[in-house]
Amino acid sequence: MSAQRIVVLTGAGLSAESGVPTFRDKTGIWAKYDYREVATPEGFARNPDLVHEFYNMRRRAHATVRPNAAHAALARLEREHEGEVWIVTQNVDALHEQAGSRNLIHMHGEIFSALCAGCGARSPWDQDLALATICGACGEPRGMRPDVVWFGEMPHHMDRIRELVGAADLFLSIGTSGNVYPAAGLVAEARSHGAHTVELNLEPSEGRRMFAEAIHGPATRVVPVYVEKLLASQ
Ligand code: OAD
Repeated sequence: MSAQRIVVLTGAGLSAESGVPTFRDKTGIWAKYDYREVATPEGFARNPDLVHEFYNMRRRAHATVRPNAAHAALARLEREHEGEVWIVTQNVDALHEQAGSRNLIHMHGEIFSALCAGCGARSPWDQDLALATICGACGEPRGMRPDVVWFGEMPHHMDRIRELVGAADLFLSIGTSGNVYPAAGLVAEARSHGAHTVELNLEPSEGRRMFAEAIHGPATRVVPVYVEKLLASQ
């Protein structure tokens, strides 16, 4: 099939084979941590040290991971596809950009960015954060926090994402369990605008029935094959 405009939604399963843990698998992050304590504004207000330690640990772990064959295939798709390709990722890692993707939206924020709750400035950040961390923009320790979206907060760039999804001919969802909205609702929006919808995931996701087509298997195996097929068909 020939699709001019492609939107790809990605989730933790895409980075799993790079060594980044997923959230909802048996050994995932939410099996070890209570998300209400480490990934909500209320949790941060209650115990900022615990939240900083959680994200400091993840930031340190992310510093050594590398993109895998699935990230590389999506970057290739953007380079070689005749139409436009956009990636909307729920992942806070930097593996898409490291693989070479440029049309990229981080809807759940970025682990290598810090946000000052006092002045609103965002700064690239690869160090640990703490309550006493001074904001480089306002010079005050006014609540530097990881620049990630917590439960109860609005994901970033939703207007732009809805515009892209509404204009897509092909909507791919890769490595996401379909549990978290509004990301999990994008397939319905793509469908209602007439896009062909495909899930590529290790196993059928929560939203499996919303997709016109599903391909199940590890991302490093199924994504490069699917991209090859798409590029050959244009
Ligand atoms: P989940 O952990 O909920 O789902 C990961 C999905 O990837 C599951 O369906 C797995 O079966 C699949 N998977 C695992 N390994 C895979 C592999 N090698 N290849 C392909 N698929 C694989 O992660 P997300 O759906 O990304 O948000 O989670 C969405 C959001 O919930 C996250 O952004 C995060 C989390 O709580 C916040 O923290 C706000």
